[in-house]
Amino acid sequence: HKGVAMAPLSLFLLMCFLVPFSHQSPPSPSNFLFGTASSAYQYEGAYLSDGKGMSNWDVFTHKPGSIDDGSNGDVAVDQYHRYLEDIDLMEAIKANSYRFSISWARILPKGRFGEVNLLGIDYYNRLINALLLRGIQPFVTLFHFDIPQELEDRYGAWLSPQSQEDFELFADTCFKYFGDRVKYWVTFNEPNYIVPLSYRVGRFPPCRCSGQFGNCSKGNSEKEPFEVAHNMILSHAAAVDVYRNKYQSEQGGKIGIVLHIDSFEPLSNSTADKLATQRAQSFSNNWILDPILFGKYPKEMEMILGTILPKFSSNDKAKLRRGLDFIGINHYASYYVRDCILSVCESGKGVTRTEGLYLQTSLKNGVPIGELTPFAWLNVYPQGMKKVIIYLKDRYNNTPMFITENGYGNLNDPHLTAEEYLNDFKRIEYMSGHLDNLMAAMREGADVRGYFAWSLLDNFEWKSGFSCRFGLHHVDFATLKRTPKSSASWYKHFIEKYITES
Ligand code: NOJ
Repeated sequence: HKGVAMAPLSLFLLMCFLVPFSHQSPPSPSNFLFGTASSAYQYEGAYLSDGKGMSNWDVFTHKPGSIDDGSNGDVAVDQYHRYLEDIDLMEAIKANSYRFSISWARILPKGRFGEVNLLGIDYYNRLINALLLRGIQPFVTLFHFDIPQELEDRYGAWLSPQSQEDFELFADTCFKYFGDRVKYWVTFNEPNYIVPLSYRVGRFPPCRCSGQFGNCSKGNSEKEPFEVAHNMILSHAAAVDVYRNKYQSEQGGKIGIVLHIDSFEPLSNSTADKLATQRAQSFSNNWILDPILFGKYPKEMEMILGTILPKFSSNDKAKLRRGLDFIGINHYASYYVRDCILSVCESGKGVTRTEGLYLQTSLKNGVPIGELTPFAWLNVYPQGMKKVIIYLKDRYNNTPMFITENGYGNLNDPHLTAEEYLNDFKRIEYMSGHLDNLMAAMREGADVRGYFAWSLLDNFEWKSGFSCRFGLHHVDFATLKRTPKSSASWYKHFIEKYITES
């Protein structure tokens, strides 16, 4: 009897191994979110339209020499005017969610020091409504790097604890106007990545350096990056507090944060490298999540940084208890980690993380962990996806997770024709490998609820300008014409198959 019951099951399992997109069957419910991700500054353009204020990125990109290819996001990929066309593209790939961010300076052009810009509200209302009409859930980020310049000019924005009130007001305004329809909120995108870039090595605005790092005239205190992150963590807590107190029970949404999560493994079996790997996890991945979920910084950070690390008051701790509903994971790369306490790291290949006394490198005995790309922060090691998910599952008690970004970028090569960009099998390989590993993590019990590819379109890649292409759709940056690449139709088939089978 048992044998008879098992037959269709084994047939089903066999079929699961034969599907061309993923080696095994997707194990999750059919309400899994599949979509693409974007951000306001990288996509919208219309940088002064309809009452929008200047943002820190508008000001930065307009300074000659800021952006590698001399470009800026004034027009970007003009999603502000082309959102309906872009929603058609999402619909064509069967996406059921779209991750985008709200430009703070479009909603509050002068932050706390001015009025709400109703024309900005109107744009996001139109976008959200159009998405919902096509059955696409908005997944909305509040801070994705751009802030009103006013806050920067008045008191250095995140350098000041006043930023907590600023962010609280922005979040409250968004919940109030959009929360009846938006069910997924992200407070911050990648604070653990943007803080060192902006306040340690000075590559992103406000271009400040700390300690001996970078080469810039502003900033000099080792403490600064940690103080900025502290203000961001407390701003997250303030936004969650408002959402829980005023909106969540009525609106019924979820609120979380997105981190840049690399996978780390020890360079050797030595205890020193294993401990260094724990330090890498703490200084990079757990820096922001531990305070939100455990009320304190990771012990490795406390031990090494001592008084450099700010403290949470009892008031702060009470706010932090509001926690989060999900962890968003932006995953792109994996590294080996080498200890820099017992060994001298300066001469080694890779990036020395002096503050955490370790070195991270893509190479072991000259052999890369996975295929390298022109970008140091992107390599192809799909197993890293499973590793980061399982790590976070174990550390944070299987808090629900979303993969909020994952994707593959090419350098914009003037010698390539548009057609050559369209056959993007490397991107397909990358996504397929990472999705397989995502499914494998779910089979081990990880509570993952969605996946967003970076990105729907080729777009403005911050400091690199238009010199890299991450899109499932090619954009001709002169005409802004969008054309699906092979990865778009691959993703569509993957989603269809997943949804039919679950
Ligand atoms: C991380 C950021 O969130 C996004 O803005 C960026 O474009 C991608 N990763 C690729 O670098």
